[in-house]
Amino acid sequence: MQDKTMWIMLAAVIIICTTAWLLWPAQADFESVAVKLPAQLSKEAMDGGRLFADNCQRCHGENASGTSKGPPLIHVIYVPSHHSDASFYRAAAQGVNQHHWPYGNMPAIADVSREQVSKIIHYVRELQRANGIE
Ligand code: HEC
Repeated sequence: MQDKTMWIMLAAVIIICTTAWLLWPAQADFESVAVKLPAQLSKEAMDGGRLFADNCQRCHGENASGTSKGPPLIHVIYVPSHHSDASFYRAAAQGVNQHHWPYGNMPAIADVSREQVSKIIHYVRELQRANGIE
């Protein structure tokens, strides 16, 4: 009798662990995308790319392709009709409360001026267009 209980418990543990393992990737919804680079970037966008690398890349990834700390910005969620340029100025100046993704909040980035964010926006928009997001 005791043996039987032990087997049932063991089976239950295996089922619970397998289910948790199967569901885990669905919960950890981090995303990283393959970004195509445009043949030519404007001068503004090239400056923006350098500013992006210094201030945004550690979370948003190389070419804004995403990391485990921040979402890809080359993503249909950030198409200009859904996230206008104003949302970029706001994100840098005030930070962003977590709402679209499971990464947590974005802090305000004090080191970038409005003019610098404007160049970063050129960079992100030109990459988005090269990847069919417009
Ligand atoms: C410490 C990590 C981190 C850094 C550095 C960072 N971001 Fe973010 N950013 C995030 C996270 C996380 C989100 C997603 C919040 C959500 O929607 O759940 C985000 C969201 C955004 C959004 C979407 C705003 C919205 O209204 O939904 C924009 C635009 C953005 N970031 C731009 C930038 C720019 C530009 C920089 C560099 C100047 C930058 N981020 C630096 C983590 C970061």
